Amino acid sequence: MTPVLNSPVLDINGLSVQFSTPEGEVNAVSDVSLSVKRGECLGIVGESGSGKSQTFMAALGLLAKNGSTQGKVSLNGADILGASEQELTAIRGNNIAMIFQDPMTSLTPHMRVGRQLAEVLQRHRGFSSTEARDHAIAMLRRVQISEPERRLKMYPHELSGGLRQRVMIAMALLCGPDVVIADEPTTALDVTIQAQILDLIREVKETLDTAIVLITHDLGVVAGLADRVAVMYAGRIV
Ligand SMILES: Nc1ncnc2c1ncn2[C@@H]1O[C@H](COP(=O)(O)OP(=O)(O)O)[C@@H](O)[C@H]1O
Ligand SMILES: [Mg+2]
Repeated sequence: MTPVLNSPVLDINGLSVQFSTPEGEVNAVSDVSLSVKRGECLGIVGESGSGKSQTFMAALGLLAKNGSTQGKVSLNGADILGASEQELTAIRGNNIAMIFQDPMTSLTPHMRVGRQLAEVLQRHRGFSSTEARDHAIAMLRRVQISEPERRLKMYPHELSGGLRQRVMIAMALLCGPDVVIADEPTTALDVTIQAQILDLIREVKETLDTAIVLITHDLGVVAGLADRVAVMYAGRIV
């Protein structure tokens, strides 16, 4: 999957999402088209409930059971909306990574950080446990976590909110994804930590040449970071 230079890594075309509810059909996303290139940060801004998260959940095949999708989504030119669950699992492990607002939803609480990072590499990259540990340590350094050997032995709840978010970012970057989708990555953090995490995301964008989608309800967050911004309102790009 070598992308053609400057062609979009992720391309969403005419995407719509509905949910069926006891009160009837809800149109959460209506005819949204977006694309993001390597080394580019696309900001998605909009008030809560405007369809930001569900646009990308639908694109990754992660919609709730009562949801349905129309449109076209391609990754490096290949259609992924029609992909099988098995293909999607591989894509989510290798090509697209998601960072959520609350790292506790993505980290397993009863498993040491080192084990969680190593498992990703063993599962998706076929690394040995020693290779995986070395790579995990290098990645924790990469996201500016000091004393990585010591942190590997910790459980997620033993880390501060900012450190947990750094671990999440390390986990997202482990397999060298083509696209990182960060959904409100700093919303749960205080302002100083927020700024540090945004600096880290900027650094990742500049040095790793990844495509980044930064979803937020806060225009201030995207202002310094996004190359382009799409504003969503009531399920549409406005
Ligand atoms: N499983 C679901 N069933 C019904 N409605 C849903 C479901 N998931 C999300 N929605 C609705 O879809 C709309 C868009 O949600 P979302 O994309 O999460 O908004 P945002 O991320 O912009 O805050 C909201 O009105 C939300 O209530
Ligand atoms: Mg959301």
